Amino acid sequence: MYTIQTFNKISEKGLCRLPRQEYQVGPDQQDADAILVRSQVLSSANLNPNLKAVARAGAGVNNIPVEEYTKQGVVVFNTPGANANAVKELVLCGMLLASRGIVQGIEWVNQQDPGTDYAALNKLMEAQKANFKGGELAGKTIGVIGLGAIGALVAEAAIHLGMRVLGYDPAITVDAAWRLANQVEKQENLNSLISRSDFVTLHLPAIEATKNLIDGKIINYFKSGAVLLNYSRDAIVDTSAVLEGLDNGRLGCYVTDFPMPSLLKHPKAILMPHIGASTDEAEDNCAIMAADQLRGFLEHGNIRNSVNFPALTLERSGAAVARLAVVNQNVPGMLGQVLSILANRGINVVDMLSKSRGDIAYNLIDLAGAPTAETLAEIRAIEQVVKAWTL
Ligand code: MLT
Repeated sequence: MYTIQTFNKISEKGLCRLPRQEYQVGPDQQDADAILVRSQVLSSANLNPNLKAVARAGAGVNNIPVEEYTKQGVVVFNTPGANANAVKELVLCGMLLASRGIVQGIEWVNQQDPGTDYAALNKLMEAQKANFKGGELAGKTIGVIGLGAIGALVAEAAIHLGMRVLGYDPAITVDAAWRLANQVEKQENLNSLISRSDFVTLHLPAIEATKNLIDGKIINYFKSGAVLLNYSRDAIVDTSAVLEGLDNGRLGCYVTDFPMPSLLKHPKAILMPHIGASTDEAEDNCAIMAADQLRGFLEHGNIRNSVNFPALTLERSGAAVARLAVVNQNVPGMLGQVLSILANRGINVVDMLSKSRGDIAYNLIDLAGAPTAETLAEIRAIEQVVKAWTL
Protein backbone atom coordinates (compact mmCIF):
# COMPACT_ATOMS: atom_id res chain seq x y z
CA MET A 1 0.00 0.00 0.00
CA TYR A 2 1.33 3.44 -0.96
CA THR A 3 0.50 6.52 1.08
CA ILE A 4 0.09 10.03 -0.31
CA GLN A 5 -0.47 13.12 1.80
CA THR A 6 -2.47 15.81 0.01
CA PHE A 7 -2.39 19.54 0.63
CA ASN A 8 -5.05 21.88 -0.78
CA LYS A 9 -8.03 20.74 -2.79
CA ILE A 10 -6.82 18.37 -5.48
CA SER A 11 -9.23 17.63 -8.34
CA GLU A 12 -11.09 14.33 -7.96
CA LYS A 13 -10.21 13.54 -11.58
CA GLY A 14 -6.58 13.31 -10.49
CA LEU A 15 -7.20 11.56 -7.18
CA CYS A 16 -9.19 8.80 -8.86
CA ARG A 17 -6.07 7.87 -10.86
CA LEU A 18 -4.71 6.45 -7.58
CA PRO A 19 -6.62 3.17 -7.04
CA ARG A 20 -7.96 2.88 -3.49
CA GLN A 21 -6.89 -0.75 -3.17
CA GLU A 22 -3.25 0.34 -3.63
CA TYR A 23 -3.22 3.93 -2.39
CA GLN A 24 -4.18 5.65 0.84
CA VAL A 25 -4.59 9.30 -0.06
CA GLY A 26 -5.61 12.29 2.03
CA PRO A 27 -4.56 15.26 4.15
CA ASP A 28 -4.15 13.12 7.27
CA GLN A 29 -1.62 10.64 5.88
CA GLN A 30 1.47 10.82 8.07
CA ASP A 31 5.00 9.69 7.08
CA ALA A 32 3.66 9.34 3.55
CA ASP A 33 5.59 7.99 0.57
CA ALA A 34 4.68 11.08 -1.39
CA ILE A 35 3.01 14.50 -1.19
CA LEU A 36 0.54 15.91 -3.69
CA VAL A 37 0.32 19.68 -3.35
CA ARG A 38 -1.01 22.80 -5.03
CA SER A 39 -0.17 26.07 -3.29
CA GLN A 40 0.64 25.02 0.30
CA VAL A 41 4.13 26.21 1.22
CA LEU A 42 6.17 23.16 2.21
CA SER A 43 9.16 23.22 4.52
CA SER A 44 11.57 20.85 6.23
CA ALA A 45 8.73 20.04 8.65
CA ASN A 46 6.99 18.17 5.83
CA LEU A 47 9.98 15.90 5.23
CA ASN A 48 9.92 12.42 6.71
CA PRO A 49 12.50 9.65 6.22
CA ASN A 50 10.00 7.70 4.09
CA LEU A 51 9.16 10.61 1.78
CA LYS A 52 10.32 9.88 -1.76
CA ALA A 53 8.47 12.39 -3.91
CA VAL A 54 6.47 15.61 -4.02
CA ALA A 55 4.23 16.33 -6.98
CA ARG A 56 3.05 19.88 -7.53
CA ALA A 57 -0.20 20.19 -9.46
CA GLY A 58 1.00 23.28 -11.29
CA ALA A 59 4.07 24.61 -13.05
CA GLY A 60 5.83 26.80 -10.47
CA VAL A 61 7.61 25.08 -7.59
CA ASN A 62 8.47 28.13 -5.49
CA ASN A 63 6.29 26.79 -2.65
CA ILE A 64 8.67 23.82 -2.29
CA PRO A 65 12.21 24.08 -0.88
CA VAL A 66 13.59 22.13 -3.83
CA GLU A 67 17.26 22.37 -2.89
CA GLU A 68 16.68 21.00 0.60
CA TYR A 69 14.42 18.23 -0.66
CA THR A 70 16.99 17.27 -3.30
CA LYS A 71 19.64 16.81 -0.60
CA GLN A 72 17.24 14.42 1.14
CA GLY A 73 16.76 12.48 -2.12
CA VAL A 74 13.15 13.60 -2.59
CA VAL A 75 12.06 13.86 -6.24
CA VAL A 76 10.03 17.02 -6.99
CA PHE A 77 7.64 16.84 -9.92
CA ASN A 78 5.64 19.59 -11.58
CA THR A 79 3.08 19.50 -14.39
CA PRO A 80 4.43 21.65 -17.22
CA GLY A 81 1.86 22.43 -19.87
CA ALA A 82 -1.12 21.02 -17.94
CA ASN A 83 -2.50 24.48 -17.21
CA ALA A 84 -0.88 26.27 -20.14
CA ASN A 85 -4.10 26.86 -22.05
CA ALA A 86 -5.76 28.50 -19.05
CA VAL A 87 -2.82 30.86 -18.58
CA LYS A 88 -2.66 31.59 -22.32
CA GLU A 89 -6.32 32.60 -22.33
CA LEU A 90 -5.78 34.99 -19.42
CA VAL A 91 -2.76 36.53 -21.12
CA LEU A 92 -4.96 37.25 -24.16
CA CYS A 93 -7.56 38.71 -21.81
CA GLY A 94 -4.86 40.85 -20.15
CA MET A 95 -3.75 42.20 -23.53
CA LEU A 96 -7.34 43.10 -24.44
CA LEU A 97 -7.95 44.73 -21.07
CA ALA A 98 -4.77 46.77 -21.48
CA SER A 99 -5.67 47.84 -25.04
CA ARG A 100 -9.32 48.77 -24.78
CA GLY A 101 -11.36 50.70 -22.24
CA ILE A 102 -13.18 47.53 -21.22
CA VAL A 103 -12.85 47.76 -17.42
CA GLN A 104 -13.41 51.52 -17.36
CA GLY A 105 -16.36 51.21 -19.73
CA ILE A 106 -18.02 48.49 -17.65
CA GLU A 107 -17.46 50.50 -14.48
CA TRP A 108 -18.99 53.58 -16.09
CA VAL A 109 -22.08 51.66 -17.28
CA ASN A 110 -22.63 50.19 -13.82
CA GLN A 111 -22.46 53.65 -12.25
CA GLN A 112 -25.52 54.79 -14.23
CA ASP A 113 -28.91 55.01 -12.58
CA PRO A 114 -30.92 51.78 -13.16
CA GLY A 115 -34.03 54.01 -13.33
CA THR A 116 -32.75 55.72 -16.51
CA ASP A 117 -34.86 54.85 -19.53
CA TYR A 118 -33.08 53.04 -22.34
CA ALA A 119 -33.20 55.89 -24.86
CA ALA A 120 -31.57 58.26 -22.37
CA LEU A 121 -28.99 55.67 -21.36
CA ASN A 122 -28.22 54.99 -24.99
CA LYS A 123 -27.74 58.69 -25.71
CA LEU A 124 -25.42 58.98 -22.73
CA MET A 125 -23.42 55.94 -23.81
CA GLU A 126 -22.99 57.22 -27.34
CA ALA A 127 -21.77 60.53 -25.92
CA GLN A 128 -19.32 58.86 -23.52
CA LYS A 129 -17.93 55.98 -25.54
CA ALA A 130 -15.06 57.98 -27.01
CA ASN A 131 -13.59 57.96 -23.49
CA PHE A 132 -13.20 54.19 -23.68
CA LYS A 133 -11.59 53.95 -27.10
CA GLY A 134 -8.55 51.70 -27.47
CA GLY A 135 -6.29 50.06 -30.00
CA GLU A 136 -6.35 46.67 -31.73
CA LEU A 137 -3.93 43.82 -31.19
CA ALA A 138 -3.65 42.95 -34.88
CA GLY A 139 -0.57 44.54 -36.38
CA LYS A 140 1.10 45.06 -32.98
CA THR A 141 4.28 43.30 -31.84
CA ILE A 142 4.43 41.02 -28.82
CA GLY A 143 7.67 39.87 -27.24
CA VAL A 144 7.40 36.52 -25.47
CA ILE A 145 10.12 35.93 -22.89
CA GLY A 146 10.29 32.21 -22.09
CA LEU A 147 9.10 29.78 -24.73
CA GLY A 148 8.06 26.75 -22.70
CA ALA A 149 4.55 25.33 -22.80
CA ILE A 150 2.77 28.60 -21.92
CA GLY A 151 5.02 30.93 -23.93
CA ALA A 152 4.61 28.75 -27.04
CA LEU A 153 0.81 28.79 -26.75
CA VAL A 154 0.75 32.56 -26.21
CA ALA A 155 3.01 33.02 -29.26
CA GLU A 156 0.76 30.84 -31.41
CA ALA A 157 -2.43 32.62 -30.29
CA ALA A 158 -0.85 36.02 -30.92
CA ILE A 159 0.08 34.94 -34.46
CA HIS A 160 -3.56 33.95 -35.03
CA LEU A 161 -4.60 37.40 -33.81
CA GLY A 162 -2.45 38.96 -36.53
CA MET A 163 0.39 40.07 -34.26
CA ARG A 164 4.09 39.98 -35.00
CA VAL A 165 5.73 37.69 -32.45
CA LEU A 166 9.28 37.97 -31.13
CA GLY A 167 10.65 35.29 -28.84
CA TYR A 168 13.55 35.03 -26.42
CA ASP A 169 14.53 32.00 -24.39
CA PRO A 170 18.21 31.23 -23.81
CA ALA A 171 17.26 27.98 -22.04
CA ILE A 172 14.81 26.63 -24.62
CA THR A 173 14.66 22.82 -24.75
CA VAL A 174 14.75 20.86 -28.01
CA ASP A 175 11.13 19.76 -27.47
CA ALA A 176 10.00 23.34 -26.87
CA ALA A 177 11.82 24.52 -29.99
CA TRP A 178 9.99 21.85 -32.01
CA ARG A 179 6.65 23.04 -30.60
CA LEU A 180 7.23 26.65 -31.57
CA ALA A 181 5.40 28.21 -34.51
CA ASN A 182 7.94 29.06 -37.21
CA GLN A 183 6.64 32.64 -37.47
CA VAL A 184 8.14 33.39 -34.04
CA GLU A 185 11.16 35.63 -34.65
CA LYS A 186 14.05 34.61 -32.44
CA GLN A 187 15.79 37.46 -30.59
CA GLU A 188 19.37 37.16 -29.43
CA ASN A 189 18.90 39.17 -26.26
CA LEU A 190 16.31 40.73 -23.99
CA ASN A 191 17.03 44.29 -25.03
CA SER A 192 16.38 43.66 -28.69
CA LEU A 193 13.06 41.92 -27.87
CA ILE A 194 11.93 44.59 -25.43
CA SER A 195 12.85 47.58 -27.58
CA ARG A 196 10.76 46.23 -30.50
CA SER A 197 7.63 45.10 -28.61
CA ASP A 198 4.31 46.80 -27.91
CA PHE A 199 3.52 44.00 -25.43
CA VAL A 200 6.08 42.07 -23.41
CA THR A 201 4.88 38.91 -21.70
CA LEU A 202 6.87 36.85 -19.18
CA HIS A 203 6.69 33.06 -19.05
CA LEU A 204 9.66 32.07 -16.91
CA PRO A 205 10.19 30.14 -13.69
CA ALA A 206 11.09 32.13 -10.57
CA ILE A 207 14.66 31.01 -10.03
CA GLU A 208 17.82 32.83 -8.98
CA ALA A 209 18.68 33.65 -12.61
CA THR A 210 15.30 35.30 -13.27
CA LYS A 211 15.02 37.28 -10.03
CA ASN A 212 14.27 40.94 -10.85
CA LEU A 213 14.92 40.24 -14.52
CA ILE A 214 12.68 43.21 -15.29
CA ASP A 215 14.49 45.94 -13.38
CA GLY A 216 14.89 49.69 -13.76
CA LYS A 217 17.69 49.29 -16.33
CA ILE A 218 15.72 47.02 -18.66
CA ILE A 219 12.55 49.12 -18.35
CA ASN A 220 14.44 51.92 -20.12
CA TYR A 221 14.51 49.71 -23.22
CA PHE A 222 10.69 49.46 -23.42
CA LYS A 223 8.95 51.33 -26.22
CA SER A 224 7.19 54.30 -24.73
CA GLY A 225 3.73 53.22 -23.54
CA ALA A 226 4.40 49.48 -23.97
CA VAL A 227 2.45 46.93 -21.91
CA LEU A 228 4.19 44.48 -19.56
CA LEU A 229 2.33 41.28 -18.65
CA ASN A 230 3.47 39.09 -15.77
CA TYR A 231 1.67 35.79 -15.37
CA SER A 232 4.85 34.09 -14.12
CA ARG A 233 5.80 35.13 -10.58
CA ASP A 234 6.26 38.35 -8.60
CA ALA A 235 9.99 37.82 -8.02
CA ILE A 236 10.79 38.19 -11.74
CA VAL A 237 9.79 41.85 -11.72
CA ASP A 238 11.17 44.69 -9.61
CA THR A 239 7.87 46.31 -8.65
CA SER A 240 9.39 49.66 -7.67
CA ALA A 241 11.00 49.93 -11.11
CA VAL A 242 7.67 49.07 -12.75
CA LEU A 243 5.90 51.77 -10.69
CA GLU A 244 8.49 54.29 -11.80
CA GLY A 245 8.04 53.16 -15.43
CA LEU A 246 4.25 53.52 -15.16
CA ASP A 247 4.54 56.96 -13.60
CA ASN A 248 7.06 58.33 -16.11
CA GLY A 249 5.11 56.91 -19.09
CA ARG A 250 7.75 54.43 -20.23
CA LEU A 251 5.23 51.68 -19.44
CA GLY A 252 1.65 52.15 -20.61
CA CYS A 253 0.25 49.40 -18.43
CA TYR A 254 1.34 46.59 -16.10
CA VAL A 255 -0.89 43.53 -16.13
CA THR A 256 -0.08 41.01 -13.44
CA ASP A 257 -1.42 37.98 -11.64
CA PHE A 258 0.92 38.80 -8.71
CA PRO A 259 -0.04 42.25 -7.40
CA MET A 260 2.22 43.81 -4.80
CA PRO A 261 0.41 46.13 -2.35
CA SER A 262 2.22 49.17 -3.78
CA LEU A 263 0.45 48.58 -7.10
CA LEU A 264 -3.08 48.56 -5.70
CA LYS A 265 -5.35 51.21 -7.22
CA HIS A 266 -2.67 52.38 -9.65
CA PRO A 267 -4.61 53.62 -12.70
CA LYS A 268 -2.19 51.94 -15.11
CA ALA A 269 -2.07 48.57 -13.35
CA ILE A 270 -4.43 45.68 -14.08
CA LEU A 271 -4.22 43.36 -11.12
CA MET A 272 -5.52 39.82 -10.82
CA PRO A 273 -5.43 37.48 -7.78
CA HIS A 274 -3.25 34.66 -9.23
CA ILE A 275 -6.07 33.18 -11.31
CA GLY A 276 -4.03 32.29 -14.40
CA ALA A 277 -4.59 28.58 -13.93
CA SER A 278 -7.90 28.79 -12.09
CA THR A 279 -10.12 26.87 -14.47
CA ASP A 280 -11.81 23.52 -13.94
CA GLU A 281 -9.95 22.13 -16.94
CA ALA A 282 -6.52 23.26 -15.75
CA GLU A 283 -7.09 21.95 -12.23
CA ASP A 284 -8.18 18.58 -13.61
CA ASN A 285 -5.26 18.39 -16.05
CA CYS A 286 -2.68 19.30 -13.39
CA ALA A 287 -4.07 16.79 -10.88
CA ILE A 288 -4.20 14.00 -13.46
CA MET A 289 -0.65 14.66 -14.62
CA ALA A 290 0.70 14.92 -11.05
CA ALA A 291 -1.06 11.72 -9.96
CA ASP A 292 0.12 9.78 -13.04
CA GLN A 293 3.70 10.94 -12.50
CA LEU A 294 3.57 9.88 -8.84
CA ARG A 295 2.22 6.45 -9.80
CA GLY A 296 4.92 5.95 -12.43
CA PHE A 297 7.52 6.80 -9.82
CA LEU A 298 6.17 4.97 -6.78
CA GLU A 299 5.33 1.80 -8.67
CA HIS A 300 8.20 1.68 -11.19
CA GLY A 301 10.75 4.32 -10.15
CA ASN A 302 10.32 6.12 -13.48
CA ILE A 303 10.77 9.90 -13.51
CA ARG A 304 9.04 12.29 -15.91
CA ASN A 305 8.81 16.06 -15.42
CA SER A 306 10.96 16.42 -12.34
CA VAL A 307 12.52 19.78 -11.57
CA ASN A 308 15.41 18.30 -9.58
CA PHE A 309 16.01 14.72 -10.76
CA PRO A 310 16.98 13.39 -14.18
CA ALA A 311 14.25 12.02 -16.45
CA LEU A 312 14.52 8.25 -16.50
CA THR A 313 12.31 5.37 -17.66
CA LEU A 314 13.29 1.73 -17.45
CA GLU A 315 10.88 -0.78 -18.97
CA ARG A 316 10.07 -3.68 -16.64
CA SER A 317 11.72 -6.87 -17.83
CA GLY A 318 10.07 -10.21 -17.23
CA ALA A 319 13.37 -11.72 -16.10
CA ALA A 320 13.68 -9.45 -13.03
CA VAL A 321 12.11 -10.31 -9.70
CA ALA A 322 12.87 -7.01 -7.99
CA ARG A 323 13.77 -3.44 -8.84
CA LEU A 324 16.16 -1.48 -6.71
CA ALA A 325 16.11 2.33 -6.69
CA VAL A 326 19.17 4.14 -5.40
CA VAL A 327 19.63 7.89 -4.97
CA ASN A 328 23.20 8.92 -4.32
CA GLN A 329 25.46 11.92 -4.38
CA ASN A 330 26.87 12.40 -7.86
CA VAL A 331 30.45 11.26 -7.13
CA PRO A 332 32.61 8.62 -8.85
CA GLY A 333 32.49 4.96 -7.85
CA MET A 334 29.00 4.87 -6.34
CA LEU A 335 27.43 2.46 -8.77
CA GLY A 336 30.44 0.16 -8.47
CA GLN A 337 29.99 -0.02 -4.71
CA VAL A 338 26.28 -0.84 -5.00
CA LEU A 339 26.91 -3.46 -7.70
CA SER A 340 29.67 -5.12 -5.73
CA ILE A 341 27.37 -5.49 -2.69
CA LEU A 342 24.82 -7.15 -4.96
CA ALA A 343 27.52 -9.37 -6.52
CA ASN A 344 28.81 -10.40 -3.09
CA ARG A 345 25.26 -11.46 -2.18
CA GLY A 346 24.98 -13.44 -5.45
CA ILE A 347 22.29 -11.20 -6.91
CA ASN A 348 22.51 -10.87 -10.67
CA VAL A 349 21.66 -7.61 -12.46
CA VAL A 350 19.13 -8.05 -15.29
CA ASP A 351 18.94 -4.45 -16.47
CA MET A 352 19.84 -1.03 -15.17
CA LEU A 353 19.80 2.66 -15.92
CA SER A 354 21.73 5.40 -14.19
CA LYS A 355 21.49 9.14 -14.69
CA SER A 356 22.64 12.24 -12.89
CA ARG A 357 21.54 15.83 -12.59
CA GLY A 358 23.63 18.34 -10.72
CA ASP A 359 24.75 16.90 -7.41
CA ILE A 360 22.39 13.96 -7.46
CA ALA A 361 22.44 10.59 -9.27
CA TYR A 362 19.56 8.17 -9.61
CA ASN A 363 19.76 4.50 -10.51
CA LEU A 364 17.20 1.83 -11.27
CA ILE A 365 18.62 -1.68 -11.10
CA ASP A 366 16.51 -4.71 -12.07
CA LEU A 367 17.59 -7.83 -10.23
CA ALA A 368 17.27 -11.57 -10.74
CA GLY A 369 16.93 -12.05 -6.97
CA ALA A 370 15.20 -9.96 -4.30
CA PRO A 371 17.63 -8.17 -1.97
CA THR A 372 17.15 -8.95 1.71
CA ALA A 373 16.67 -6.25 4.35
CA GLU A 374 20.31 -6.83 5.27
CA THR A 375 21.48 -6.19 1.69
CA LEU A 376 19.42 -3.00 1.55
CA ALA A 377 20.86 -1.88 4.87
CA GLU A 378 24.38 -2.43 3.53
CA ILE A 379 23.62 -0.33 0.45
CA ARG A 380 22.05 2.42 2.56
CA ALA A 381 25.14 2.42 4.76
CA ILE A 382 27.35 3.59 1.88
CA GLU A 383 28.20 7.13 2.90
CA GLN A 384 27.06 8.92 -0.27
CA VAL A 385 23.88 6.89 -0.71
CA VAL A 386 20.95 9.18 0.12
CA LYS A 387 18.10 6.72 -0.30
CA ALA A 388 17.67 3.13 -1.46
CA TRP A 389 14.51 1.06 -1.66
CA THR A 390 12.96 -1.78 -3.64
CA LEU A 391 9.81 -1.55 -5.73
C1 MLT B 1 1.40 27.49 -11.83
O1 MLT B 1 2.45 27.59 -11.19
O2 MLT B 1 1.10 26.48 -12.43
C2 MLT B 1 0.42 28.62 -11.84
O3 MLT B 1 0.96 29.77 -11.32
C3 MLT B 1 -0.87 28.26 -11.19
C4 MLT B 1 -0.77 27.83 -9.76
O4 MLT B 1 0.15 28.19 -9.05
O5 MLT B 1 -1.64 27.10 -9.34
